Amino acid sequence: MSDRALLDRYEASLRGLARKSRLRSLSGRAGLDFASNDYLGLAGNRRMAEAVATALANGTPVGATGSRLLRGNDPHHEALEEKAARFFGAERALFFGGGYVANFAVLTTLPQKGDLIVLDELIHASAHEGARAGRAEVVEVKHNDADAVDDAIKTWRAGGGIGRAWIVAESLYSMDGDRAPLAELMAVADRHDAFLFVDEAHATGVYGPQGRGLAHYLQGRDNVVVLHTCGKALGGSGALVTAPATLADYIVNRCRPFIYATAPSPLMAVAAMEALDMLADEPERRAKLAALVTLAGTGTEAIGLKPSGTQILPLIVGDNGRAMALAEALQQRGFDVRGIRPPTVPEGTARLRISLTLNVGEADVSALFEALAEEWKR
Ligand SMILES: Cc1ncc(COP(=O)(O)O)c(C=O)c1O
Repeated sequence: MSDRALLDRYEASLRGLARKSRLRSLSGRAGLDFASNDYLGLAGNRRMAEAVATALANGTPVGATGSRLLRGNDPHHEALEEKAARFFGAERALFFGGGYVANFAVLTTLPQKGDLIVLDELIHASAHEGARAGRAEVVEVKHNDADAVDDAIKTWRAGGGIGRAWIVAESLYSMDGDRAPLAELMAVADRHDAFLFVDEAHATGVYGPQGRGLAHYLQGRDNVVVLHTCGKALGGSGALVTAPATLADYIVNRCRPFIYATAPSPLMAVAAMEALDMLADEPERRAKLAALVTLAGTGTEAIGLKPSGTQILPLIVGDNGRAMALAEALQQRGFDVRGIRPPTVPEGTARLRISLTLNVGEADVSALFEALAEEWKR
């Protein structure tokens, strides 16, 4: 067999993706930022950079050198975890290298054999992966439907389920920009002695008092675990899982992605600590973002669509090719707007995902929606 033949099946698969307008490729950054998750504009912020530069100058190592359980446990990791636990109002926090791995880690570690994981059908890919790779049974329910969650747990119990149920939701959905009915989900969890696991990836820093997230008022409870990512509004990378002390200890002892991985860079812990301080010190950032959300909402209504009311605005196009052509047309006009296609979103719901950040101003948002109004009609 020639070397090329080894690659045939991959090439055929890529051709198949291209036929469905689903082929992806990497492209550089160009145009005004309507695509990143840097909601508060912290990724390139001077205060963040200075905090990291000072730590580096003072001898903070670039690399952690090992697992947290071996020599990789840097004082900055612990300082961040203590600060985050206090900030978010939880007993403990644990720092992971990223939100994807943290979702995978939690869902492969905490739900046990005999438990049930109830996933919202629009939950992030990383939660799906974790649930699938773990030991618990998994069921998917209709998006944002607390009654469907309740029914799923009742059906499982009636069928002999004897473990604990884990309800898993995003507080603000990454591709739809809508919020979960957290109070209702919490009530369902309490009724069934279940756990609620909330992924705050897109809400941390943006919503709640001082940006403590939409689930801020649930933190500290014995049956609540929350994921805060550091790569979106916090402008760095990594993730903080906040949980009761017992569950944090359990993760340290049993969670393979935590135990068998090099700890995140201590410099990222420094960046995350600075970002948490900035959330408290600079509330005007959230106010500015809220003003952009209002402005973009008016622009969305002008093209006949309903705005999400958050910094994530999905403009559903439907057809994959048309969504990508629209995104391309906007990119040509200087706006970095990306098309999102299946399998990231359900079949037939390809969309433009406009994300609002402090990397743009009100004039930029107005200009985008003027351009959009023209392109949308074409
Ligand atoms: C809802 C949600 N959870 C988790 C993640 C993964 O986080 P990270 O990018 O830090 O790996 C993302 C990232 O896109 C996300 O949107």
